[in-house]
Amino acid sequence: MNRICTLFKIKYPIIQGGMVWCSGWRLASAVSNAGGLGLLGAGSMHPETLREHIQKCKSATNKPFGVNVPLMYPDIDQLMQIIVEEKVPIIFTSAGNPKTWTSYLKSNGISVAHVVSSSKFASKCEEAGVDAIVAEGFEAGGHNGREETTTLCLIPAVRRVTTLPLLAAGGIGTGEAIMAAMALGADGVQIGTRFALSEESSAHLNFKQLALNLNEGDTKLLLKKLSPTRLINSKFSTLIEEAESRGASTEELRELLGRGRAKKGIFEGNLEEGELEIGQVSSLFRKIESVDEIMRDLIEGYHLIRQKIQDDRLFPPA
Ligand SMILES: Cc1cc2nc3c(=O)[nH]c(=O)nc-3n(C[C@H](O)[C@H](O)[C@H](O)COP(=O)(O)O)c2cc1C
Repeated sequence: MNRICTLFKIKYPIIQGGMVWCSGWRLASAVSNAGGLGLLGAGSMHPETLREHIQKCKSATNKPFGVNVPLMYPDIDQLMQIIVEEKVPIIFTSAGNPKTWTSYLKSNGISVAHVVSSSKFASKCEEAGVDAIVAEGFEAGGHNGREETTTLCLIPAVRRVTTLPLLAAGGIGTGEAIMAAMALGADGVQIGTRFALSEESSAHLNFKQLALNLNEGDTKLLLKKLSPTRLINSKFSTLIEEAESRGASTEELRELLGRGRAKKGIFEGNLEEGELEIGQVSSLFRKIESVDEIMRDLIEGYHLIRQKIQDDRLFPPA
């Protein structure tokens, strides 16, 4: 039995990553109903908004779902209290130190996974006592590691330092990529970009349409001095890029970024002024699909490629 499926009590080892302005109760419940694990993205919610989404998610699915909490969240105590009160069974923490909250959450019966971008931080997760690790490579949408380690290099490196259940993230959007991630040592996958562009995602239609017309090279990892973020090339990203290439200070960049940019871009669909976060893998997709269609395609794609690879004519034995 797959360790991720056993840990989270789900049918397929496919996690829908928590995503600011995309993953509310509609997306999370649709993924959980389809046999994966849906995560509410608390990073863009006020604490009481999160409570509302948790309650709506509970009415929309009787399957397990979880919450993603970026640990730099300002009202984090309040957020964690709501998660405990509402008896959410699973939490995925990111962007911070896994030691801060893991034992508190586990003592409340919550399973904890933490997102890392290096094997060094994967070891810290083990010390912190998490139940699973998400290793997220450079290709991924959203905030990212500074070292630019690709998923292809990161997964085997993390597998070497830990025996914990491992989820691969970054650049995974097809059944073939799931197969590749499992071959590298992952027990399952976390997918963001493809679900961000689904029918059930709360991202603005302008954002989805733009992201579904990208080619390779149309996103870049910027804002390394603040928090490295993969952005679609746009008027706003060009401003940031120019500032960075003339050596702008952290303060200057912070001012340029201002507040609410991700909301403006992803949720309000302002393609010029907003921060447009999406992964490299977006260039493979051209239309808005329902979560059910995506899940079916992922599972069928996985089994087709698995059969094809088993054919020795494609790669003769030694
Ligand atoms: C629009 C967007 C917003 C994201 N927001 C978050 C977030 O709030 N917290 C988090 O841990 N990861 C966030 N991520 C990362 C995803 O959870 C996931 O790990 C990543 O998208 C996987 O790589 P992929 O985009 O190649 O599928 C975001 C990704 C995208 C595309």
